[in-house]
Amino acid sequence: MTGPRSVLVTGMTGLLGPWLAFTFRAAGWQVTGISRRPVPGSTVSTFSEKELRTVISDCRPELILNAAAMSQPAEAERSPEEAEKSNIRLPVLLAGLAREAGSRFFHCSTDLVFDGLTGGYSETDPVSPCHVYGKTKAEAERQIFTSNPDAVIFRLALLIGFSEDGAHGFLDSFSGSLTAGKPVSAFTDEFRTAVPVKVAADLFLLAAEKRILPGLYHLAGDDRLNRYELARILARHLGAREDLIKPAVLAEFTGSPARQPDVSMRNQKLKSALGIEKIPGIIHPDVLNRIPARF
Ligand SMILES: NC(=O)c1ccc[n+]([C@@H]2O[C@H](COP(=O)([O-])OP(=O)(O)OC[C@H]3O[C@@H](n4cnc5c(N)ncnc54)[C@H](OP(=O)(O)O)[C@@H]3O)[C@@H](O)[C@H]2O)c1
Repeated sequence: MTGPRSVLVTGMTGLLGPWLAFTFRAAGWQVTGISRRPVPGSTVSTFSEKELRTVISDCRPELILNAAAMSQPAEAERSPEEAEKSNIRLPVLLAGLAREAGSRFFHCSTDLVFDGLTGGYSETDPVSPCHVYGKTKAEAERQIFTSNPDAVIFRLALLIGFSEDGAHGFLDSFSGSLTAGKPVSAFTDEFRTAVPVKVAADLFLLAAEKRILPGLYHLAGDDRLNRYELARILARHLGAREDLIKPAVLAEFTGSPARQPDVSMRNQKLKSALGIEKIPGIIHPDVLNRIPARF
């Protein structure tokens, strides 16, 4: 192949998209980002089929990375039609366009396709979504593989990291509260295999460079922690007061939709596919890394 490898990235105004763009660019890839709102390093698009075809024919990407989604369960519950548009129709359209263009297609799904009643989920476990967000993401997985059997779908665990605009990640609001000396409640009975967003972006790059085989992979950290443990570790990394973290239990949660107690995932399939032994969880202080400004 001549010239730099080319990747098209969606979700450029969110948490993961800018990390993907930064990581691939740093590795020498030519990155085209598209977003509905203007942000540096990204071209504004309506995401209509016509515009997507044009952008794909202009940048001829070897890989299309879809990080766009309505990713907040509460928002999806309030706006199910928008959730269907962002979480099913857009990725299925992109999967089909990628196939037509001869590009690889990587898509982000979620651990919330599971109900969280057992935890320790593998790729072969049946999905059991219990809210609009989980249902739309699970349905997208099914339709993407129908429209593009060569697709790669990563089911991501909770991503931890600072977002580029400081307004998209759990860590942004969490660190803001601690810095302001505000207490933060964290569940002792809600378990996740969280992964730093930087680690996730590095694994996407490795998967692209190693030409991972098509299929479904769980992208999760090695450590299963409850939210309270997770919050205390992050407070320590931040040099903030750990006593601001207040233990709570899921039975006290009154919001909508209901929360999933244990969506921890096994990550062995991805580790074997990439030839790696560990996927660091949030115990690693790198979790506080930031994207260099104006990458
Ligand atoms: N963050 C996590 O902990 C986590 C965990 C598991 C899985 N995931 C999955 O990982 C992916 C990335 O998550 P994230 O946290 O980076 O999400 P995010 O911060 O909410 O960003 C979502 C991005 O998608 C864009 N978007 C939404 N609907 C769109 C549409 N119809 N057309 C075009 N762009 C659209 C948003 O653009 P606008 O600014 O225009 O709305 C935004 O750039 C998602 O698939 C999410 O479901 C995330």
